[in-house]
Amino acid sequence: MQVRPGAVWHPGQMALPGIVPMPPIAGGVGLPWDQPVGDAVAAIAAARKDCGDTFVIDSGRDRYLFTFSPRGVAEFYGLPEDRASKGVADWRMLRRKLPDEIFDGRRTFPHDLFGRSDAASYLANVHRALDATVADMGSEGTVDLFDMSRRLGHRVGLASWGGPGSAEEPALASLIGAFDALDGADAFVHPDVMAAVAANSKAAERTALAAVTERFAEAARAVEADRVLVTQHPLFARIVSAWSTETGDVRYRGIGHDVALVHVASMSNLFAALGWVFVDLLSDRPAAVRVAAGESAWAEQCALESIRLAQRSIMSRFVLEPVTIGDGEHTYRVPSGVTIATLLPLTNASAGPGLETWDPTRWNRRRLTRPVLAAPELVTSFGHGRHTCPAQPFSLAAISATVARLLSNFHWEPRWAARPQPVPAQIGGVARADGPCPATYRRLRSAGAPSAS
Ligand code: HEM
Repeated sequence: MQVRPGAVWHPGQMALPGIVPMPPIAGGVGLPWDQPVGDAVAAIAAARKDCGDTFVIDSGRDRYLFTFSPRGVAEFYGLPEDRASKGVADWRMLRRKLPDEIFDGRRTFPHDLFGRSDAASYLANVHRALDATVADMGSEGTVDLFDMSRRLGHRVGLASWGGPGSAEEPALASLIGAFDALDGADAFVHPDVMAAVAANSKAAERTALAAVTERFAEAARAVEADRVLVTQHPLFARIVSAWSTETGDVRYRGIGHDVALVHVASMSNLFAALGWVFVDLLSDRPAAVRVAAGESAWAEQCALESIRLAQRSIMSRFVLEPVTIGDGEHTYRVPSGVTIATLLPLTNASAGPGLETWDPTRWNRRRLTRPVLAAPELVTSFGHGRHTCPAQPFSLAAISATVARLLSNFHWEPRWAARPQPVPAQIGGVARADGPCPATYRRLRSAGAPSAS
């Protein structure tokens, strides 16, 4: 997820922008933040069945050009950001939920935190967060896998960029509460409640943003007072230093909002991905045994495969300056104001034979090797081209370390009656489970032994 407000086309009362040639318009279909849709992915799948691989959906005051052909999807990932912007498309979606002030004047973006040399520091923090989690779990119990992974996602993220004290109690519980209220992902996981958020003028979100900003200001003061903390919290220290030219409230608000936006970005996908990796591993014991035994490349393949199948992402680019995009049959001239989009769940599990099943052996490290696709862009876990997720190495390392630790320390039994399903209205990010997903665990006598039997 990238957020960068910029020059934005305002629909106002103008007619919807025309595309030349004009693809078929899917009649009666809208997107879930404009009208009740039920299952958003099923609605777009039905439109594709009726209209073919390239079609238009007019929803609310916006026009969307969807593309699904191999050429169309490949060209989609090649669109230039300055003309067809992912940043603006994301911002237009997220501003339905997040207060405007979180976007203004940001100095640190996720790209700035995930360089190659950062791996060691964030992994050390991931392991610290896991130590605390394992200690909290005790010797046995029952957890909901998605509740557990959400708490873990918060803990791992805050340990990595939240500064001293943020990933530990008492700060952790109140930060989790505030970030759950602030959660930008609601814009695409529960698009149907965005009208209520607007009606409330984002009051709950503003209160939550103020609370997290205050906590990160406290952490910043701690780092300023004790330079040893800089080495223990290098990513947070980088954010603090980005604001070194400012003083007082401006400085601390800037630091707080930078951290808040990075953490909100991390909440789009990371914890949900971790939940699905757990679900798939508890459903495939031989695969889990290899993860528990410490095969980290295998754990990453499992993660990529679970994410591929759980992807519910709408990929969108808001056209700022006219662009052309071909789908193999036509080349369309697309004017400013249109959003060009593709939807991962309609290609990731069907673009080639066998893709509907979970099979981590189809990945060779981070590359999909089977089946051969009409265009490699038809399947993705972390994106393609210039917008590929900058946090992929961090996310895969964090997920692999987490499942390896929890599977090697505990014996697990899935307790769900049927495999959990995605929230139907969700249209973006990795799927959230639409119901409980319980599992029981029991600590193994020898830590490090495989937990799956
Ligand atoms: C398992 C976890 C994750 C998955 C599956 C994931 C997936 C993706 C995908 C598919 C894209 C490309 C979107 C597009 O082309 O429209 C993307 C981009 C992005 N992701 Fe992630 N992501 C994950 C974790 C994270 C985390 C933890 C962060 C930050 C804290 C993050 C920040 C970003 C940013 C900033 C971009 C935009 C990059 C750009 O436009 O250049 N992601 N992610």
